[in-house]
Amino acid sequence: MKIGFIGLGHMGTGMAASLLKAGHEVGVYNRTPTKADKLVAQGAKAVASVSDACRSDAVITMLANDDAVEGIVFGEDGIIDSLPVGATHISSSTISVALSERLAAAHAKAGQRFIAAPVFGRPDVAAEGKLFVVAGGAPDAIEAAASLFAAIGQKTFVVSDRPQAANLVKLSGNFLIASVIEALGEAMALVGKGGVDQREYLDILTSTLFTAPVYKTYGGLIVDRKVEPVGFAAPLGHKDIRLTLAAAEDLRVPMPLASLLRDRFLTLLAHGGDTLDWSAIGQLAAKDAGEVGNGGLRHFGPPPSPPLRREAQNLMQGELR
Ligand SMILES: NC(=O)c1ccc[n+]([C@@H]2O[C@H](COP(=O)([O-])OP(=O)(O)OC[C@H]3O[C@@H](n4cnc5c(N)ncnc54)[C@H](OP(=O)(O)O)[C@@H]3O)[C@@H](O)[C@H]2O)c1
Repeated sequence: MKIGFIGLGHMGTGMAASLLKAGHEVGVYNRTPTKADKLVAQGAKAVASVSDACRSDAVITMLANDDAVEGIVFGEDGIIDSLPVGATHISSSTISVALSERLAAAHAKAGQRFIAAPVFGRPDVAAEGKLFVVAGGAPDAIEAAASLFAAIGQKTFVVSDRPQAANLVKLSGNFLIASVIEALGEAMALVGKGGVDQREYLDILTSTLFTAPVYKTYGGLIVDRKVEPVGFAAPLGHKDIRLTLAAAEDLRVPMPLASLLRDRFLTLLAHGGDTLDWSAIGQLAAKDAGEVGNGGLRHFGPPPSPPLRREAQNLMQGELR
């Protein structure tokens, strides 16, 4: 198929590369044009504008947030103005349920087709073409896009003919992942301060009751104090919890845990966490417990000098005896 791909960030770059590998003709557009260079070397055609990207059977957007998607879709010479009648906009960004509804209505009015197809998986998974796609939209439109989903993902779940349902599923999934990160962070802080080896602890967890990839991936990042390089940036994680709460408010569903997570992200961002991976909220419990001496949390203050650390350890061992 002839595809326009808009948004070449951590995720979009790998997704566009997967489409190229599957033999599709891909025109790529990014606000910062230099990010297209790597894809051009792989056979993509760099296009100069959104409207050029829309001269296609389908245009895929993988943009940061609601503002970015609104600008690209509703702006002058944006997707609504430029996409041919009968062509499809596939929105893979994690956006609000409300914006997804607006997009569906606007595309229908313009005679274009719209599919919400948010994805699960981090940038390394996107680069391998192994994402999980959660799709919502008219069945014939989704069927016509099946080869695109097969190129970027290992499995597609069609959840509804209402696009916004796919966005709700995606947001609820990220809420769950953030909950796991927070819970792991608290458990790790507890056992770590109690003198238990955190790596062995994670091994016990992930080889018994907690075998899911989410525990392995984020448990490993927390143990390694690895908050950089960014796979999924903390401000985007914060955005997803805010969007989850907005959907919950519209549907009148109290989500106390989501409210707590929103504050966790605010704490992280207030302490300079903007450039860190979202898994950095998993380090906050250790900080609250006075364990600031790890490399991953350099933004939270200097590590204690070795004698102080030894003193703290002695004190702790004293407490434990
Ligand atoms: N990273 C993950 O693990 C992951 C996993 C699943 C879903 N997602 C979701 O996928 C989307 C993209 O995530 P990402 O990690 O690829 O983000 P990213 O690396 O920050 O990339 C964001 C993209 O959006 C563009 N953009 C931002 N603001 C814009 C604006 N106002 N106008 C035009 N373009 C704009 C950026 O262009 P520039 O290059 O010019 O800045 C870039 O192409 C997000 O909705 C995210 O929640 C991410």
